[in-house]
Parts: sequence; structure tokens; C-alpha cells
Amino acid sequence: MKVLFVCLGNICRSPTAEAIFSKLALEEGVMDQLEVDSAGTNGFHIGQSPDPRSIKYAAKRGIDITPLRGRLIDRADFERFDLVIAMDNENVRQLTALCPEAMQGKINLLLSYARRCNYREVPDPYYGGAREFELVLDLIESGCRGLLDQLVIDGFVSISQHLQVRSHV
Ligand code: 4NP
Repeated sequence: MKVLFVCLGNICRSPTAEAIFSKLALEEGVMDQLEVDSAGTNGFHIGQSPDPRSIKYAAKRGIDITPLRGRLIDRADFERFDLVIAMDNENVRQLTALCPEAMQGKINLLLSYARRCNYREVPDPYYGGAREFELVLDLIESGCRGLLDQLVIDGFVSISQHLQVRSHV
């Protein structure tokens, strides 16, 4: 299952989602069944490290996003990835404009997978402070947990395969 997380700049929200989803998948032992990446709808930060604030607040939760680099979404991404997961409605609008119609069903909001969540979008933290960056982390953790659970429920990711492997160790 190939999952691409998308935001505007690919330096705050989507690299955070890429790292958190990968961490959850690693903890569940299912990372070998997944390919995870992130991209931005805007090219301002191509090749750049994540925003220092995103690095700092992710690190406080034990998540290292420093190796990630900003990149621009490409039309080929809609072929390559099974799911294109957006942070907000503006991302969805930009992605839908770029995506061939037959593949638009791959585009979904991250928080549509979150359980008991009052937010529908992960708000852009760029002009915010500590509270906004912490909120982004809380929302992304909730959405990524729900997304991974949904992939298991839908049979795209198999936890039992992992347990079988572990039971032989
Ligand atoms: P992101 O945040 O979309 O979560 O990466 C932003 C990063 C940069 C800008 C806006 C949002 N910017 O305007 O440069």
C-alpha cells in the first residue's frame, strides 16, 4: 500500500504525517507492507528541511523528521500512490485540479480517518506558535492511527502476518 501525505509547503504538516504514520507502522511491524512519502502542492520549499518548529515539536514526542526534504507533488504521484492524503480542503482542491478524474478517489482528508475528532482539517501552523504546532501533532497522530486501523480493517495491511513472523522468533 503506497500512501502519500500532502500539504501546502511540505515542511510542516505532511512531513510530520509521513514520520508519524511510518513510526506507527514500524511499531505495528507492518512497514514492509507500506510505502510512505509526502509532498507539497506549492514549490516554495523544494529541497528544504522541515520547518525548525515542526522539527522541535516532533522531537519532543520522539519523532525525528530532520532527514525529510520538501518536494512538489507531481502528476505521476497519482499513478504511483494508492492513497493521496490531504491535510486541508485547500490541499484537496489543488490536488483534485491536478489529478486525472479516474484517480480522484485516491484523494482524501487525513482527519476523515480520525476517531472522535472535532476537526475536519489539520490547520496550517505556519503563522502560529507552540499551541498550533502541538495541535497539528495531536491531529496528525489521531488521523494516522485511524488511517492505519482502516487499512487493516480493509485488508490492505495484515497485522496477523506480522504476528505469525513474530511467533516464530
Ligand atoms: P505546511 O505549512 O503546508 O504544513 O508545510 C506551510 C509551510 C510553508 C508555507 C505555508 C504553509 N509558506 O507559506 O511558505
